Amino acid sequence: MKIEYRINKENYQIYYLNKKLSQITKDLEKMKSDKKILFLFDKNISKKIRSEIYSELKLSGCSVYEIEFIGSKKNKNLKAVLKIIDFMISKGFTRKSIVLSMGGGVLGDLSALAASLYMRGMIYMHIPTTMTSIVDSCIGGKTAINYQNIINSIGTYFHANKVYILDKIIKNLPEREYISGIPEVLKCGLIKDTKILNFLENESLKIKKKNSEIVKDLCLRSLKAKIYFFKDDVYEKKNRLMLNFGHTFAHSIEMAIEKNINNKKELLRHGEAVGIGILCELEYASQNSKLIKKTKEILNLYNLPVNLKHLNLNKQKLQNDIFKFLFLDKKRINKYPRYINLKNVGKPKIEEMQDYNKINIIINNIL
Ligand SMILES: NC(=O)c1ccc[n+]([C@@H]2O[C@H](COP(=O)([O-])OP(=O)(O)OC[C@H]3O[C@@H](n4cnc5c(N)ncnc54)[C@H](O)[C@@H]3O)[C@@H](O)[C@H]2O)c1
Repeated sequence: MKIEYRINKENYQIYYLNKKLSQITKDLEKMKSDKKILFLFDKNISKKIRSEIYSELKLSGCSVYEIEFIGSKKNKNLKAVLKIIDFMISKGFTRKSIVLSMGGGVLGDLSALAASLYMRGMIYMHIPTTMTSIVDSCIGGKTAINYQNIINSIGTYFHANKVYILDKIIKNLPEREYISGIPEVLKCGLIKDTKILNFLENESLKIKKKNSEIVKDLCLRSLKAKIYFFKDDVYEKKNRLMLNFGHTFAHSIEMAIEKNINNKKELLRHGEAVGIGILCELEYASQNSKLIKKTKEILNLYNLPVNLKHLNLNKQKLQNDIFKFLFLDKKRINKYPRYINLKNVGKPKIEEMQDYNKINIIINNIL
């Protein structure tokens, strides 16, 4: 199963591979490369899958070099990017060499950034391994690292030539990693496609049990919705901004928790923060209580958090920090932070949040 799309006269493919991985070897054989691959993988992925991919890379006749990472916000930094670049210099990589990353959003974002910077851009391929990365970050070309406590403050736009989604990776995912991808799917449903919302509601049991056909459908529907928003607006001038629905609050929540954390276990997954962020932005936008209720119900169906009340943190500090971090959001162009105003499904708009009192009430309600 394949999705193909075009950006600036270039073709890009996403493959959904059920069992066989030979598509990867085939693609590598056809590619005009210098036959050198840097295989970057997340250490938490099962060894069996890693070695299966390694064998495919070797079968293609390429020289394969490896670096392992652990996906974590803490490792999404300049040091990690320089480690990749230093390694490629030491092994004589050229702009015709290949970077293949296998990991979640963190490893994807930083490997793609390194691949975009080295020699002003090399061949980049990606195997996403968390639900967030499978349904969202594997396409769209946004690369980034965090710097000076600001999420994604350094980055480029650089697309993976090929993306491979592996059914066996989804089957092996730990529960929390799997479920935390759902809010990004929910986001696509809310901004684009009611069918996704119905699907999330009606097929929740099968989705939770990882039924192969249903999960494939879920992933491909989300990716198609994402492609709709970014393919004619890669640099996020207009349409693509809508994909940030929930993220103005989500990023502030993530940064505030990270700053105030005592126990690493209390860190939210990115997708979990997005779910809460979606609710905050719906609250700010609308009197559409039906839509807020439906969104909460879907999050509840998957046992996803709808607030931060379970965290054992200083509420006042958290409140101040979430408010403060809203103003560091990259979408801000004037005095006020911007967010996605959604009053009805499929009708997102970018707007400023000018009512500080309302913002504070919304933050207070989730604490
Ligand atoms: N570029 C984009 O368009 C985009 C979109 C959304 C999110 N993001 C970025 O993605 C990041 C979050 O990504 P994430 O949620 O995938 O987190 P992540 O990459 O940190 O992975 C979460 C955890 O899962 C582990 N893991 C990864 N794959 C696994 C597997 N198959 N089996 C077991 N464990 C596995 C990792 O080691 C890590 O501990 C954020 O930095 C966010 O900014 C980017």
